Amino acid sequence: MQTVPFNFNASKNLEILSKTAFLTTHRAGKTNIMVTAWGAIGVMWKLPVYVAMVRKSRYSYKLIEKTREFTVTFPYTDLSKAAEVFGQSSGRNVDKLALTGLATRPAHKITTPVLDVPGMHLECSVIYARLMSAEKLNPAIQELWYDRQRNNYHAFFVSQILDSYITP
Ligand SMILES: Cc1cc2nc3c(=O)[nH]c(=O)nc-3n(C[C@H](O)[C@H](O)[C@H](O)COP(=O)(O)O)c2cc1C
Repeated sequence: MQTVPFNFNASKNLEILSKTAFLTTHRAGKTNIMVTAWGAIGVMWKLPVYVAMVRKSRYSYKLIEKTREFTVTFPYTDLSKAAEVFGQSSGRNVDKLALTGLATRPAHKITTPVLDVPGMHLECSVIYARLMSAEKLNPAIQELWYDRQRNNYHAFFVSQILDSYITP
């Protein structure tokens, strides 16, 4: 494991994110993972932050709301088979980790573990959470992403990156 700055490999990681990254949550001894392709790495309040965009309907949303933490993994290996499970089923109904046969490893600064795959990992603690509403939203974005899923807006979970590292 190699500790790196939060913005290490930023361009590579954002390229991976735009296709398939993983967001891990954990509560009451259970770990859940969803695919994420929307998010941002930046600086706010002089802190390194990751902004996760998670729809209200996701089980992951409920878990982050309760625990206010999650980890993000940018995989440096092909995990397309696992991505089908993580992105198409819900942790409400199935144990996705068991289905994929993948494992996790403990995080350093938070309770939520990281996916144990080659890649870069962020340990995130929520600073500010905000559910989107139609108010002030660009009408074209509203029509494209939300008209067919009424009242299923994304929440922005602005989170401090407490640790960042690469695992082989
Ligand atoms: C390529 C891809 C990218 C996705 N990105 C996001 C995302 O950024 N935010 C989100 O809320 N859902 C996203 N999803 C959908 C969730 O991964 C999916 O609904 C998942 O089943 C939610 O699992 P959960 O109910 O266990 O949280 C994406 C799905 C795919 C296939």
